[in-house]
Amino acid sequence: MIDRAAVEAVLNAIPDPATGRGLVEAGVPKGLTVTEDRAGFVIEVPADRTAAYAPVRDAAEAALKAMPGMARVSVILTAETAPAARKASLSPAAVEQTRAKAPVPTDRPAHVRRVLAVASGKGGVGKSTVSVNLATALARRGLSVGILDADVHGPSLPTMLGLSGKPDYVDGAMVPHRAHGLKAMSVGLLTKAEDAMVWRGPMASQALTQMLTQTRWGTEDQPLDVLVVDLPPGTGDVQLTLIQKTPLDGAVIVSTPQEVALADARRAHTLFQRVNVPTLGLIENMSGPVFGRGGAEAEAGRLGVDFLGDLPLEASVREAGDAGAPLTSGDVADRFDAIAAAVAQKLGL
Ligand SMILES: Nc1ncnc2c1ncn2[C@@H]1O[C@H](COP(=O)(O)OP(=O)(O)OP(=O)(O)O)[C@@H](O)[C@H]1O
Ligand SMILES: [Mg+2]
Repeated sequence: MIDRAAVEAVLNAIPDPATGRGLVEAGVPKGLTVTEDRAGFVIEVPADRTAAYAPVRDAAEAALKAMPGMARVSVILTAETAPAARKASLSPAAVEQTRAKAPVPTDRPAHVRRVLAVASGKGGVGKSTVSVNLATALARRGLSVGILDADVHGPSLPTMLGLSGKPDYVDGAMVPHRAHGLKAMSVGLLTKAEDAMVWRGPMASQALTQMLTQTRWGTEDQPLDVLVVDLPPGTGDVQLTLIQKTPLDGAVIVSTPQEVALADARRAHTLFQRVNVPTLGLIENMSGPVFGRGGAEAEAGRLGVDFLGDLPLEASVREAGDAGAPLTSGDVADRFDAIAAAVAQKLGL
């Protein structure tokens, strides 16, 4: 049984590089959660300080893992979208200075606080299903949520959300469709699906960049809290290019319980590690008597990432997708609510 005070004491023994005080005293850990045998929190710093805080994240993770009885630790380091501007303790001049030093990555979509990837190594495991239902579950939490279908080779969001028609353009930016409380954009809306199928790597990644950066996801007054990106399946060069070019704050990996899918989930995790994108956790889909159960949780344990939950293989899930109407109630919707709560916490939302 892990004690919250003990966790805080361990964290407080690590100095905050900015203030020299202990991490807890300096208010560095955000959203600290301590359960029976786990602990996790988020460190949110201005974009230009992430490198300085990486050793802090590592030290905190190592120190917590060393606590007796601790089974799992997740410390997530993320960059603030508005560098330091919200910190009242900084003088206006200091804020300006921080701003000037923090380069805005060109591919970062404007007025979007967090970008979350939904990935899988293997195709057909339910990535798009999870993207749509996780996005609507995040929206049920009161967050402003967008969803981007980055699967340029087989866009499925138009079907799953019941979207049709090309987006409007306003001042050179695309206006996302609104459906089921989400702002949605899919390459399937921009081009005929048959055309999308033949796109090769560079074109595919260019199309994604355009949809990311040229869509009016949010405004200065009403930023989008989180953009869920439904990535194409696979762990090859195309996927690597896509995730390198996309400013991702975290990824969830979907897998079915079978070994082949788990092996691909492992590869997907490795791919994200290579580009320093935190894997927020694994989700087991199509869990049950057909494909088995528990494989993804065991795999998460081996990879040292969180297990976010399992979703049963159930006709209602497929029917909802086919009908273009995400699930809004029932056991599976409840499971998505729980996953959304964990994801929101990990993203510091
Ligand atoms: N838990 C589930 N129960 C029943 N059917 C499901 C479940 N999850 C997904 N499906 C169905 O399985 C099919 C594949 O799901 P989906 O399109 O979400 O997978 P994907 O990983 O996005 O596939 P792709 O790799 O082609 O993009 C769909 O018909 C979907 O409705
Ligand atoms: Mg898909």
